[in-house]
Amino acid sequence: MEKKRILTGDRPTGRLHIGHYFGSLKTRVEMQNSGKYDPYILIADVQALTDNFNNPDKVRKNVREVMLDYLSVGLEPEKTTIYIQSMIPEVAELTVFYSNLVTISRLQRNPTVKTEIAQKKELFGESVTYGFLGYPVSQAADITAFEGALVPVGEDQLPLIEQCKEIVRKFNSIYGETLVEPEAVLSNAKRIKGLDGNEKMGKSLGNAIYLSDTPEEISKKVMSAVTDPNRIKKDSKGNPDICMVSYYHKLFSPKEECENVCEECRAGKRGCVACKKQLANNIIKTLEPIREKREYYEKRPELVDKFLIEGTQKARETAKETMKKVKRAMKLDYFE
Ligand code: TRP
Repeated sequence: MEKKRILTGDRPTGRLHIGHYFGSLKTRVEMQNSGKYDPYILIADVQALTDNFNNPDKVRKNVREVMLDYLSVGLEPEKTTIYIQSMIPEVAELTVFYSNLVTISRLQRNPTVKTEIAQKKELFGESVTYGFLGYPVSQAADITAFEGALVPVGEDQLPLIEQCKEIVRKFNSIYGETLVEPEAVLSNAKRIKGLDGNEKMGKSLGNAIYLSDTPEEISKKVMSAVTDPNRIKKDSKGNPDICMVSYYHKLFSPKEECENVCEECRAGKRGCVACKKQLANNIIKTLEPIREKREYYEKRPELVDKFLIEGTQKARETAKETMKKVKRAMKLDYFE
């Protein structure tokens, strides 16, 4: 049986953090290593430009940072095809074709787009760009260019997959059965809260631990994590349920250690500083192999580029095949 193709990706707007790790990277590595799939991962630089068009340096730099993060967590170019979105012109072409199949009001009603526009008032002012409003169309091109894609996503991305399916159905109903409808795979991975207790971990929020952070940076960040505000003195009784340190202990520390920490906190027998030190050590230990691998590749930029070039070439071949079918269906195959 042919292996099912998986398609996922990230916008290269910053280095990846532990939120990405638990939210998607871990699952991607597991799926890769299961050998049951044919995984593709795109570094979505074109999509990143939709809300960073005024900052091309940032996007360019982060393409390599994200690639280093991928390699550091154990994604392997021999098993996972990793490619740069802007280097697949077929995706841009498909985006133009699909733009006839989606209305402006439908895009405006897309919950993901709506939320993001609200968050980006500073960039867009009162009027959003055509490119940003239309990025779900480009994402539909990302997915369909590679056929039969299973798309593992977080909940916030579901409306984008739904919109992609609608485009596929519309395309197929007008031009004949051509495109493959993707299937969203809702990952059981969790969304990690920030060090400050914010629901989301993110660069703009300044509450993230990066996969590339040094032990010193990790320790410093953990020291700033929000704990039970009612716990004023070292021996007052704490409530680990509202403490970010205990929240991260559950992610990074052995079960027994977690139980111990919580029990002693409730009894007022453990100070927050000691608790944070212990957590910082466990995070550092967990991230150590990732950081080491990252350093290995940081020192070998030509190898990293080689991986990117080869992945992109392979992806391009796949996209070209789809493009042939699309052009035939749309009667644009003039001299074939
Ligand atoms: N929208 C995704 C994000 O912001 C990135 C992305 C671009 C993507 N194209 C994709 C994800 C195709 C899955 C499939 O994280």
